[in-house]
Amino acid sequence: MSQPEGALTELARLLASGAVTTPPGRWAFRLDTSEWTLVHDDGATALLPGRAPGTGGALITDGDTLHRMVHGELDAMTASALGLLGFDGPDRESIPVVTLLMQVHNARHLAPPFVDHVLGRLLAQGRVPDREGNPVPTGGWCLPADVCLGLYRLVREGGLGRTLEVGLGFGASALAICQAHADAGHGNHVAVDPWQQGELFGGAGVHHLREAGLERFFELRHAPDHVALPGLVNEGNRFDLVLIDGLHMLDYALLDILYADLLLPVGGLLVLDDISLPAVADALGYTLANRAYCEERRFGARAAVLKKLREDDRAAHDVTFHVRW
Ligand SMILES: C[S@@+](CC[C@H](N)C(=O)[O-])C[C@H]1O[C@@H](n2cnc3c(N)ncnc32)[C@H](O)[C@@H]1O
Repeated sequence: MSQPEGALTELARLLASGAVTTPPGRWAFRLDTSEWTLVHDDGATALLPGRAPGTGGALITDGDTLHRMVHGELDAMTASALGLLGFDGPDRESIPVVTLLMQVHNARHLAPPFVDHVLGRLLAQGRVPDREGNPVPTGGWCLPADVCLGLYRLVREGGLGRTLEVGLGFGASALAICQAHADAGHGNHVAVDPWQQGELFGGAGVHHLREAGLERFFELRHAPDHVALPGLVNEGNRFDLVLIDGLHMLDYALLDILYADLLLPVGGLLVLDDISLPAVADALGYTLANRAYCEERRFGARAAVLKKLREDDRAAHDVTFHVRW
């Protein structure tokens, strides 16, 4: 294990044990080839005695953001999009810290049936090998353990039979949902994703489902949402739950919600991930204000579960068209 990885493991242990606290103010994780530390922005305070500030890349953030990231309420990509997180030095050097934060959160929330499971390993390790065997950090891409567990319980306890997701990625959410189908002995999960075989994911999501013995509950539509979702509607499909975790831009989020509505029966569940991102927050607000949905619950500050109350009955000639949100 390289020196920085050893230091990060130590930081993970300290964060998990509560020995490191994150009081208000600006904080930076500093990381170079041999040393790391957590320093206050004024440079005066090193939280961990005996460690000099590193000179390499750093993740610059504030105590509140760091706390939310450690607790999985906010991932690094969202924090960065919201301007809460900055990178000092090459982003690449900061990525292990992002992975580490997710690992700490996941270690706290992993519970049966995912402790000795491909999903547990994926979330605990925070890396997967690429086609050449080199580790690829999964940090910001996978749904965190508490959301995966929440999805598993929604499907298992609700006896949901057919499920759909937009955005397979490394397969965390699909593993959780397919395991619920497997434990029920029936059910089927469809994932829509155009980039599964691309450079970033390298087929890893499908590989993980196969490795977990869940492939018979799973089907991949290897196409973007705007192609695959109309196809699913035209085939006459219905799903009890639709998870939207694809492209988090307003137009794509609304497109996914529009088609999800056509695929859900009354009483069906719509799950939106990454609701702290402005575009997803707007899409959520628009849906709640204008469509027949109510919010059932949230998974932390990260995902919202909506229930469809009735079919869309807005009149096409209604001059008010929609309410503001
Ligand atoms: C955050 S990842 C999904 C993570 C996954 N749900 C998990 O828990 O591991 C977002 C995914 O959306 C996919 N995606 C991007 N653009 C898309 C599009 N237009 N249609 C469908 N999926 C898309 C990406 O390829 C990526 O796999």
